[in-house]
Amino acid sequence: MTSAVQIGHDLNIDSLSKFYGGFTALDNVSLEVKRGEFLTLLGPSGSGKTTLLMSIAGFVQPDRGDILLDQRSIAHLPPERRNFGMVFQGYALFPHMSVYDNVAFPLKVRKRPVAEIKDKVDAALDLVQLASRADRYPSQLSGGQQQRVALARAMVFTPHLLLLDEPLSALDKKLRAELQEELKRLHKRVGLTFIYVTHDQDEALSMSDRIVVMRDGKVVQQGAPGALYDRPATSFVADFLGKSNFLRGTVETHTAEGFVLTRQGVRIAQASAAGERPPIGQEVVIALRPEKITVATGGRPHDNALKGIVSEWNYFGSQFRLVVDTLEFGAIAVVIPTWKYGEPPAAGQPVTIGWDRGAGTLVDDA
Ligand SMILES: Nc1ncnc2c1ncn2[C@@H]1O[C@H](COP(=O)(O)OP(=O)(O)OP(=O)(O)O)[C@@H](O)[C@H]1O
Ligand SMILES: [Mg+2]
Repeated sequence: MTSAVQIGHDLNIDSLSKFYGGFTALDNVSLEVKRGEFLTLLGPSGSGKTTLLMSIAGFVQPDRGDILLDQRSIAHLPPERRNFGMVFQGYALFPHMSVYDNVAFPLKVRKRPVAEIKDKVDAALDLVQLASRADRYPSQLSGGQQQRVALARAMVFTPHLLLLDEPLSALDKKLRAELQEELKRLHKRVGLTFIYVTHDQDEALSMSDRIVVMRDGKVVQQGAPGALYDRPATSFVADFLGKSNFLRGTVETHTAEGFVLTRQGVRIAQASAAGERPPIGQEVVIALRPEKITVATGGRPHDNALKGIVSEWNYFGSQFRLVVDTLEFGAIAVVIPTWKYGEPPAAGQPVTIGWDRGAGTLVDDA
């Protein structure tokens, strides 16, 4: 297997709602998933990620809306007729079957010829690098190996889509990182459409072609990882995907690049996209990533400068993470690369922090 063969399919989720009594688990969700895409659903606990995945799989019956695969409705089809591969957290292997038999199971159910089963199982085990473990039983495998068997089993029958619900959450950090890499490689190699659910924002940022952020059963924002990280639309997304400082102030003037906001006499310049200037006098919120702030060392001055006192100081090898208390905007988190500072600012020390007008993002306070 070399370059990706496009075997993925387009999925369209059209105005899907699911109610449990008076509770709305999915609220009018619409989503287009392109063939071959790695799409991640990200959101807090209870936001409806599993309900959406289970609706796609056919285990949950939505109350409204439709699900289309390559423009044809599949909403009425039972799960087994949808032909989707699934790896769910705790969706265990059959303990009494060998690795080989576990992976062969979906093909046996589909009554494929023996020779074909052997070829496909061998190929699937190769793909997840477990060919040498074919005769073992699940209890003789590590957690990561078991997850890889589950993946092989989900992919062996060439499913239309692969649905993964927190498949790595039970694994320790190192193993998770390894399997993340492996999943990404697999995705590239097989060209299958992946819909992936995770709590883990780093996982979402590093693995996805597109991230869909959910909250209270709704899609609140979607986009490529970089676009979502750099241009969150709301304070919720800015806070959920990475860390953010929130600067609240009043719009004082408009400028060529954007606008100036003030708070307690301090003026902060903020760039904005063409035409997007909030009216003068409006209360606004700017989200500002900690790593976009520097601590003044006498170099080039930034568009914005703010005085404060270091109240927390933590060393993380490659970076320092500080909290700087400011009079006007409260505590501000700052992340600075270690290599830039021979003598980093210490707790209790007065500092000036700075950032450029393009560093922050105007967000809706939601
Ligand atoms: N069968 C059910 N009956 C009643 N309420 C349900 C049922 N299934 C899910 N819910 C509710 O729907 C909401 C969404 O649940 P869902 O499992 O989709 O969340 P999630 O985003 O996957 O959360 P987590 O990250 O914790 O897995 C939750 O508030 C949950 O309690
Ligand atoms: Mg869930």
